[in-house]
Amino acid sequence: MKPVGLDIGTNYTKTTADGKDVLLFPSVVVFGEEKDWSLLKKSQKDVYIGEEALDIVQNMENVEMLRPLHEGRLMHKSYLELARYALSSLNVLESQPVIGTGLPVKSSRQEREELTRSLENELNARVLLLPQPVGTLAHLGIETGVCIDIGFGTTDVVVISHMEYLKGDTMLMGVDRLYDNFEVTIRNKAGISLTPEEMTNLLTNEQYEIGRIRGGKRISVTHDNIIDDYNSLMVSWVERISNRAKMLMEGLSTTIVDKIVLTGGGSALPGVYEEFQRRFEDVGKILVPEDPIRANAKGYYVLAKLYADELEPKKESKPVEKSEGKKEEKKEEKPKKKK
Ligand SMILES: Nc1ncnc2c1ncn2[C@@H]1O[C@H](COP(=O)(O)OP(=O)(O)OP(=O)(O)O)[C@@H](O)[C@H]1O
Ligand SMILES: [Mg+2]
Repeated sequence: MKPVGLDIGTNYTKTTADGKDVLLFPSVVVFGEEKDWSLLKKSQKDVYIGEEALDIVQNMENVEMLRPLHEGRLMHKSYLELARYALSSLNVLESQPVIGTGLPVKSSRQEREELTRSLENELNARVLLLPQPVGTLAHLGIETGVCIDIGFGTTDVVVISHMEYLKGDTMLMGVDRLYDNFEVTIRNKAGISLTPEEMTNLLTNEQYEIGRIRGGKRISVTHDNIIDDYNSLMVSWVERISNRAKMLMEGLSTTIVDKIVLTGGGSALPGVYEEFQRRFEDVGKILVPEDPIRANAKGYYVLAKLYADELEPKKESKPVEKSEGKKEEKKEEKPKKKK
């Protein structure tokens, strides 16, 4: 059995089979159509994933681009394709994967059951399905606390105590809401439309510049041009998220609120952490994992590993077998225990 952490987000899929190296690719699926000509035998694929799917969409007409999560709801078929692609890229598709994965806190029971069933049946896997932000808490080894996960499509909040779920919320208030307003501001100011990826580059890299030819002229947008507009939009966006999070935390014991964690790609955008900290200064200190985009996947791996150990309880008492190799392994273990 092979534990795998699999975080399928609205924007990016993050996956790991060792809890350290995380593979990241866009959560995009395109189902291929039958073409007039096939240039290489077997060249026609049925399904394109990630970067390759983005290329296909940009260069072909009439193909539908599917994202597994939209506004916090699950597009089931594309979810399965992304999972299959992730497991085969990690080379664990054939080794009885135990998948730790997550869904938005307010996903429906039916969505959860269907997802678990289809991953288990179609990928011959065992599945541990968690509310999304729990991944980051497990990654940080926190068993009691609050986690706010600002993703691209949703912001999810959970409150857990001794690894038990107490309550949570899903808001349709991810980075996409901030970017919608930001895009309009840039369009009004510079007259050009930017993609979400361009906006991320512009915000996270101070040297970044975007140029376009418009009406026979060069138009450029730089980090410095837009950062003030961004800051005022960001502040009101953080205000809305933190008000909802505070509502959820109302009445909780301070021992639970001792650890408040901010995660997801939204927390890595400029000024977001500082603004949260300012708004929560009367509640407590906010923690952020080192790599907030990959933290859920790493934590799902940790929990999948525990689950895989539970599923294989006989493993430790088993190794009294004939093979020489296994006897040696056992010998090595003994001195460790004495230490
Ligand atoms: N260095 C970075 N590289 C890429 N994206 C970044 C970076 N810093 C911040 N971001 C933001 O993080 C967003 C992706 O965050 P994340 O991967 O947590 O979302 P998601 O898991 O796909 O969405 P959701 O959890 O809502 O389903 C990007 O859209 C971008 O706005
Ligand atoms: Mg996410």
